Amino acid sequence: PLVSMRELLDHAAENGYGIPAFNVNNLEQVQAVMAAADEVGAPVILQASAGARKYAGESFIKHLIQAAAEAYPHIPLVMHQDHGTSPAVCEGAIKLGFGSVMMDGSLLEDGKTPAPFDYNVRVTRQVVEMAHKVGVTVEGELGCLGSLETGKAGEEDGIGAAGKLEHSQMLTDPEEAAAFVKATQVDALAIAIGTSHGAYKFTRKPTGDILAIDRVKQIHERIPNTHLVMHGSSSVPQELLAIINQYGGRIKETYGVPIEEIQRAIRYGVRKINIDTDIRLAMTGAVRKFMHENPDKFDMREWMKPAREAAKAVCKQRYLEFGCAGQG
Ligand code: G3H
Ligand code: 13P
Ligand code: NA
Ligand code: ZN
Repeated sequence: PLVSMRELLDHAAENGYGIPAFNVNNLEQVQAVMAAADEVGAPVILQASAGARKYAGESFIKHLIQAAAEAYPHIPLVMHQDHGTSPAVCEGAIKLGFGSVMMDGSLLEDGKTPAPFDYNVRVTRQVVEMAHKVGVTVEGELGCLGSLETGKAGEEDGIGAAGKLEHSQMLTDPEEAAAFVKATQVDALAIAIGTSHGAYKFTRKPTGDILAIDRVKQIHERIPNTHLVMHGSSSVPQELLAIINQYGGRIKETYGVPIEEIQRAIRYGVRKINIDTDIRLAMTGAVRKFMHENPDKFDMREWMKPAREAAKAVCKQRYLEFGCAGQG
């Protein structure tokens, strides 16, 4: 059934595991996540970005997720809005039936300009007041996602700061986090520790200077009752890049967030881990391979099937790696 994000994250905290939150845009992605969760007995967070709602249409996103709840009535499932850029966007999502919303006030409404602390507090508190009245969970964000190597936010389009960021903007300050949570009463807080959205996160396997997992521990010690969220947490598996490039793709050398670093972050208090890119890579590789091997085929179901299988395999792996097996 559809359940409360707060309850799901509380359970994860009590039992020391993390829950991957998968971005979904269409039927096959929703099916992939649900099938993976079903196989391992995991709880599910399905999240839709503004881009997803635009791509599929709000009714389709809503009913795809509600269909997932109907098809898998035994699986606890949260419908979460990813990166809301204003209280109005969050209000719309709540009206649509989302049980959890992210108010990303780390950026102004354009989703590009780093926002002042006071602005972030004001819009986030506004969403918390509105959401908590109707039992909806709120995730806030403090600090800007961005590469500590380049100062860039990563994604060319979608959510991410434009231009160059200062080193300090890309690392959430524990004291500021405490003040933010006190002022806003958010349930969950996305923090900046050097990850960024998209495939191009790191130019090498990250070490502590460019991926600040220790920062998670310092923040968690300061705000132990706030569930920490890691965005930009795809691992960008080299084997998935290799499949894409083997079958005509051209993805440059790049590295994601190593699984063992996410596991360490979970030990330090991270409960929700956002993953979109890994599913995109898995599906793209599978489609490229199928098309290459079957130039005569044209039934969409035939090429969507291996894509869905590849997405499911990634999701299942993450559920197991983050300790979700049997927790649903
Ligand atoms: O926020 C980043 C997620 O990967 C969503 O991406 O805006 O392209 O749907 P999107
Ligand atoms: P990735 O691009 O690393 O998958 O991150 C997704 C994300 O943070 C969505 O909010
Ligand atoms: Na989110
Ligand atoms: Zn994100």
